[in-house]
Amino acid sequence: MGFLYSQFFITPPRPDQSFADQTVLITGANVGLGLEAARHITRLGAARVILGVRNVAAGEEAKADIEKSTGRPGICEVWKVDLSSYESVLAFGDRIAKLPKLDNAILNAAIATQEFSIAEGYERSVTVNVINSLLLGLLILPTLKATRRNNPSHTPRLSFVVSEVHAWVQFPEWKEDRPMKFVSDQSNARMGERYPLSKLLEVLLVQELAGRVRGSEVIINMTNPGLCHSQLGREQDWKFQLMKLVLARSTEVGARTLVAGATAGLESHGAYMTDGHVENTMLSPFVRSDEGRQAREKLWSELSSILEGVHPGVMQNL
Ligand SMILES: NC(=O)c1ccc[n+]([C@@H]2O[C@H](COP(=O)([O-])OP(=O)(O)OC[C@H]3O[C@@H](n4cnc5c(N)ncnc54)[C@H](OP(=O)(O)O)[C@@H]3O)[C@@H](O)[C@H]2O)c1
Repeated sequence: MGFLYSQFFITPPRPDQSFADQTVLITGANVGLGLEAARHITRLGAARVILGVRNVAAGEEAKADIEKSTGRPGICEVWKVDLSSYESVLAFGDRIAKLPKLDNAILNAAIATQEFSIAEGYERSVTVNVINSLLLGLLILPTLKATRRNNPSHTPRLSFVVSEVHAWVQFPEWKEDRPMKFVSDQSNARMGERYPLSKLLEVLLVQELAGRVRGSEVIINMTNPGLCHSQLGREQDWKFQLMKLVLARSTEVGARTLVAGATAGLESHGAYMTDGHVENTMLSPFVRSDEGRQAREKLWSELSSILEGVHPGVMQNL
């Protein structure tokens, strides 16, 4: 009901907070919500906007489009990152570490697919939406923290774009020894529910991440944009397309919630935001339950061992 109410009756306000002097990273910024968030943030005065994209040509088109619509050339930069590859994420992280500062990061890139395939040993949506999104978050954390130390008047934000669909899936697999490995075995994969599951895993892990970082150093939050027109549903059937036709927000309106995450205060640390404000009661009953807490701890332990294998010492970035 909350979902329908939001879709029909709530339009998050057009952002007007200044991003002057800020360096901002947005992944998946060549289309959809990431592109529109980058456009808002450029319009609002950011000094440097890094469009993290897997397709550089598409990123250059997005950059030209933002420059034309905002009249602000030379602000956006297109940096390549492919979240289905550890090597690419590590190289991107190295590049971010060389930035003089990073005030804001919106980790937005994701896929929604029902086709089973493997990337880096895990089902692709788990790798892209969960493991590598968290890896990237951990890799950029030292730069965000250093930015805070050098300018205590601004607390950097690290915002993950999640979804209400995290509440639309069961996750009995959390009881397995290594849940992400388990759901990456094709015989255990319910691909019709894979996108919601990936968002549930992301919600649980971001909560755990935020619990290990002081909000006074870096504010880590999650934003749910609501159902929006974008390219995310490209593989979905006609029923989904019809639902979108009736209910979806424009990408520009949906992107307002991403900007809200990037400007939210300390109250948003570790929190779930929907319609542009903190609303932890919209987290699923599972996430808020004791089982959810146990699942989170188990997932964190699995994630830590995966990421330490990929980049030894990365968990010390916390
Ligand atoms: N649209 C909705 O209704 C809705 C609702 C709730 C939450 N969300 C969330 O909002 C975020 C943005 O989604 P969207 O709706 O804007 O979808 P979208 O239009 O499909 O955009 C997704 C972006 O992620 C990028 N991406 C996909 N795989 C990648 C990879 N391996 N490496 C790097 N980038 C990759 C895409 O790049 P390419 O263009 O190269 O594919 C694209 O830029 C996602 O986290 C999604 O879960 C969306």
